[in-house]
Amino acid sequence: MIIDGHTRTCGLIGNPVEHTMSPMIHNTLAENLGHDLVYVPFHVEEGRLTDAVKGAFALNVLGLNVTVPYKSQILSDLTEIDELAEKIGAVNTLVRREDGFKGYNTDMPGLYRAMCSEGIRIEGEEVILLGAGGAARAVAFLCAFRNVSKVYMLNRSLEKAEAVAAEVNEKTGRSCICPMALSDYPKLPDHKFLAIQATSVGLYPDVDKVIIEDEAFYRKIHTGYDLIYKPSQTRFMKLVRAQGGKAYHGLKMLLYQGVIAYELWNNVSVPEEMALQVYEAMKEKMGMKEADER
Ligand code: ATR
Repeated sequence: MIIDGHTRTCGLIGNPVEHTMSPMIHNTLAENLGHDLVYVPFHVEEGRLTDAVKGAFALNVLGLNVTVPYKSQILSDLTEIDELAEKIGAVNTLVRREDGFKGYNTDMPGLYRAMCSEGIRIEGEEVILLGAGGAARAVAFLCAFRNVSKVYMLNRSLEKAEAVAAEVNEKTGRSCICPMALSDYPKLPDHKFLAIQATSVGLYPDVDKVIIEDEAFYRKIHTGYDLIYKPSQTRFMKLVRAQGGKAYHGLKMLLYQGVIAYELWNNVSVPEEMALQVYEAMKEKMGMKEADER
């Protein structure tokens, strides 16, 4: 691309940012859509977040993504916060407005779009949600907003699951999140569930770890969605597949959170074929094989 005096800048702030795939997503979209836009990573040191946001605004930056460890901390640096992001309490996308940045959460709409693109429905379903950390909390909000009938939230620390469930139930006006201790999984009803794996267990380099080993648990899963995408086939996914279920990794969620951010910055809607072209490039970069997909 040719960078000239009209080129707009977007970027990612976080720490670390060195392994990010976001530049690939956004620069490919900009190129394919013919937008004069460049996306770069910005490594922001601890204690410099407010300076970074102010500086980016002063530099006429069009939009930013926010990653670990700043997704919650950034809330106080924004002039406006989208309702969903505010409820979730985490922002991963900033959109330039007249007097500052407005914060959005595109991680959850991204997960929703990723699941829809695989033909996974959550409305009216009963869901097993593994974890009660930051990621699981956001998924619990998504489930409550999307009218999941019941979410069994299983976590090693029951108190944490209880606290998150109470908060999500209260803030969404639904009482669909049921907290459970992880070790109580044998008490789950005897149906087939969609299970969303939102713990950090099994993440590279601990690829042999899994949250539950027992194959009886996996017999209750018709579809397993792991938010982890490195490795591309987690042990959780393997165990789901071994019991005849379908299993997916989280790379499409990463794709769509980026696509939705891009749409917000540029006021466009990205055609599905174009999103899938970017996805192919992402898979190639990850060294993924077709076999990882099913
Ligand atoms: P994130 O922001 O990625 O969700 P987090 O907030 O640190 O990260 O949450 C990590 C999640 O993984 C939690 O649900 C945690 O369980 P606890 O709340 O009981 O700590 C879960 N987790 C991490 N390591 C685990 C392990 N070895 N066994 C079971 N659960 C684990």
